[in-house]
Amino acid sequence: MNICCIGAGYVGGPTMSVIAQKCPDIKVTVVDIDEDRINHWNSDKLPIYEPGLDEVVQECRGKNLYFSTDIDKAIIESEMIFLAVNTPTKTSGAGAGRAADLRYVDSCARQIAKVANGDKIVVEKSTLPVRTAESIKQILEANAKGRNFQILSNPEFLAEGTAIEDLKNPDRVLIGGDPSKEGQEALSKLVSIYKNWVAEDKILTTNVWSSELSKLTANAFLAQRISSINSISALCEATGANVDEVAHAIGMDHRIGPKFLKASVGFGGSCFKKDILNLAYMSEHFGLKEVADYWSSVIKMNDYQTKRFTENVLSHLFDTVADKKIAFFGFAFKKDTNDTRESAAIAVAKGLLSESANIIVFDPQVNEAQIRKDLNITDDDSRVVISKDPYSAAKDADAVLVLTEWDIFKTLDYQKIYNEMSKPAFIYDGRNILDIEALRQIGFDAQSIGSPSTKDNDH
Ligand SMILES: NC(=O)c1ccc[n+]([C@@H]2O[C@H](COP(=O)([O-])OP(=O)(O)OC[C@H]3O[C@@H](n4cnc5c(N)ncnc54)[C@H](O)[C@@H]3O)[C@@H](O)[C@H]2O)c1
Repeated sequence: MNICCIGAGYVGGPTMSVIAQKCPDIKVTVVDIDEDRINHWNSDKLPIYEPGLDEVVQECRGKNLYFSTDIDKAIIESEMIFLAVNTPTKTSGAGAGRAADLRYVDSCARQIAKVANGDKIVVEKSTLPVRTAESIKQILEANAKGRNFQILSNPEFLAEGTAIEDLKNPDRVLIGGDPSKEGQEALSKLVSIYKNWVAEDKILTTNVWSSELSKLTANAFLAQRISSINSISALCEATGANVDEVAHAIGMDHRIGPKFLKASVGFGGSCFKKDILNLAYMSEHFGLKEVADYWSSVIKMNDYQTKRFTENVLSHLFDTVADKKIAFFGFAFKKDTNDTRESAAIAVAKGLLSESANIIVFDPQVNEAQIRKDLNITDDDSRVVISKDPYSAAKDADAVLVLTEWDIFKTLDYQKIYNEMSKPAFIYDGRNILDIEALRQIGFDAQSIGSPSTKDNDH
C-alpha cells in the first residue's frame, strides 16, 4: 500500500515517520511545497527537533519513508492521502483574528481533484473546524469525473516535545468516517494501519463531525486547565498561598487529577490559541454567544498571565528596565521542541523591548534567525543578543527570566551565575522549576509564579 501526507511540518513529519517505522509494508511519502523544509528532512539536520525523531527517520528514510516536493506524483501513487497542512488563524477578511484559515486545506483538495488518477481516501490530520470535511467533499465531488473520494477525520493528539512517544503509545486514535458502506470501508483501511501497533480498544471510530469537534474540545480543555491554575496563581501571590501546593492538593483528587496543573508564564504553541479562537468563532456562528464567551475567557486569562509576568519584572526592577540587561533562559514555547509559535517568551520580550531593555537569549534548540523573526527585528538590532550558553547570557545581567522549562536550567551552577550578575541580582522563574529558597540563600532576589515574593515578605 502507498500513502502520502501533504504537509511536512511538526505533525506530518513525525506522524508519517512513525507510521513508516511501524508498517514496513507501507510506502510513505511526505510532501511539501517548502523545498527548504524537504531538503532538511532529507539531510542530517531535520527541520524540527523532537526527542527520538532522528532515530526513526534514519531507520526508515530511503526504505519506506520518502520526503519530496513532487506533490502530484505522491497523490497519483497513493491510495490514501493525509492532509497535515497548517490551519492558522485568519489575518484578514471575514472572521479575521478568530476563524481558521482554510486556504491550504482548500488548495490541497483542489490539487487532489485535479491530479488524482482514481479513487482516493483523503484523511484530515490538520485540526479543522467542524464540517470542513463537507467542504473538502464538495470540492472533490464537483470534480469527481467518476472517481470516488472518501473523507476521513483523523485528528492528531501528539504533543510537541513528546511527539514520538505519543505517536508510538497514543492514549487513543480517533477516526471519523461517513456512515455509508464506502465510508466504513475507508475507515476500516485506516484502522488496519493503526492496528499494526495500537491496541484495538484504543482506536475509536465516530462520525466525522464528532471527530473534528473532539480535537478542538481536547485542546480547549487542556488550555482551560492551564488558565484555571494560572488564575489561581495570581490569587496565591495576593494571599500568600503557594500555587504548587494548591495544585498538588487538588490534583490528588482523582476527579481532578495531577496533570496539566503547572502554573506558568502562560501557554503557547501553534494550537491552543488558534483552536480556541476557532471554537469560539464557530460557537458564535451557531448563535451560541455564551459558549463563545466562556471559551474566549481562557485566552484572555492566558494573555493576562503573560502581561502580569512582564509587569512583575518591571516592578521588581524598580519600575524601569531601560538599558538593563535581561537574560532569557529559553525561548521555545515548551521544552524539547524548537517551536516558538505563540511562545510566551515572544510577548515578554516585546513588552520589555518596548521599555528599552536589552535582551540576551539562550535556548538550547531555537536558532538566532527564528528569534529575530519572532521579534520582528533585523540582524543588526543590538538590543537582542543570542547567547550560546546560559552562563554568558547571564553575565552582567540585571535579571534572569526562566521562560521555557528546559531540564538543563534545573542543574546550572546558580552560585556562579549569581557571582557574575549585576547586583541586586533578580531571577524570575516563569516555569516553577527552580528551588527558589536555595536561590534566595545564594543572594538572589528570586520570584516564581504563584508564590509570595521577597518584596512582599519585606513588608
Ligand atoms: N503542532 C502540533 O503540535 C499539532 C498537534 C496536533 C495537530 N496539529 C494540527 O496539524 C496541522 C499542521 O500543524 P503543524 O504544526 O504540522 O504545521 P506546520 O506549519 O509545521 O506544517 C504545515 C506544512 O504544510 C505545508 N503546506 C501548506 N500548504 C501546502 C500545500 N498546499 N501543499 C503542500 N504543503 C503545504 C507548509 O509548507 C508546512 O511545511 C494544523 O492544523 C495543526 O493545528 C498540530
